[in-house]
Amino acid sequence: MAVTTAPGTVSVRPPETEEAAARRDPREDEVVFDVAGAEVAYFGNVAVTGVNFTVHAHGITALIGPSGCGKSTLIRSFNRMNDLVPGAEVRGKILYHGQDLYADGVDPVEVRRRIGMVFQKPNPFPKSVYDNVAFGPRIQGRRKNLDDTVEAALTQAALWDEVKNKLKQSAYALSGGQQQRLCIARCLAVDPDVLLMDEPCSSLDPIATARIEDLMTDLKTDYTIVIVTHNMQQAARVSDMTAFMTAEIDEEGRRMGTLVEYDTTDKIFTNPSDTRTEGYITGRFG
Ligand SMILES: Nc1ncnc2c1ncn2[C@@H]1O[C@H](COP(=O)(O)OP(=O)(O)OP(=O)(O)O)[C@@H](O)[C@H]1O
Ligand SMILES: [Mg+2]
Repeated sequence: MAVTTAPGTVSVRPPETEEAAARRDPREDEVVFDVAGAEVAYFGNVAVTGVNFTVHAHGITALIGPSGCGKSTLIRSFNRMNDLVPGAEVRGKILYHGQDLYADGVDPVEVRRRIGMVFQKPNPFPKSVYDNVAFGPRIQGRRKNLDDTVEAALTQAALWDEVKNKLKQSAYALSGGQQQRLCIARCLAVDPDVLLMDEPCSSLDPIATARIEDLMTDLKTDYTIVIVTHNMQQAARVSDMTAFMTAEIDEEGRRMGTLVEYDTTDKIFTNPSDTRTEGYITGRFG
């Protein structure tokens, strides 16, 4: 497939391989999140508004855009993490498999089990490697076959071989990249459906970053992944769909983030429809 390049657009993605060209449009797959008119305010001040898009199963969706445009705010609204942020209020609709995540009667703890989150800085608990991974299953009362559950989660997170002889050691004794994979294993141990990752590689070196990127690609067969990243190459390398967000100032001087363009990653990085997207990915803005 020929890659059309808009004038002035730098393609950060290598020429498409046949395999990539044969990839299906992820929008053919089941809708996991349907975001309609989403808006998030802090203490009444709107931080991000007018967000409409769909996230599809078994794909990696990247959220990109300049600092302060509301990427973290938006991704936190996908698993009700904003409930824990003082002053935060989510408006509009965020449907998860057709269910309004913010409807009365929805249990935010169950939401966060099914929709796990990994943060910018690895945040293992001050416990052993084993106890970090066993933490969620124990809370769920799953005490049977705990060793198997822990091993399976660590294996899925591509960490088992490195830690199988250190299970009783403190998680803090692991490297940053290992700690981040431990946090991914901790999410996987409670059998989630979605993984949300807010700049999961920003504190990691290039080798640890590459391991997490490979891991994401492996995991997307079984999970749906949404990742926030400042690293354009990373978005281009790993994601199937990309949402470009930016912040604009309204007539009253209020700064608000919004979604500018959402499309396949190939389209966003080679032939974006909006000049603001083009400006950002070519480094002329943001
Ligand atoms: N806990 C909070 N309380 C009040 N305002 C907040 C809070 N978190 C974020 N904001 C505001 O919301 C807006 C969006 O912030 P957010 O952290 O979502 O941006 P971001 O796109 O993730 O930025 P970055 O790339 O720097 O991480 C900013 O104006 C920020 O000041
Ligand atoms: Mg952020």
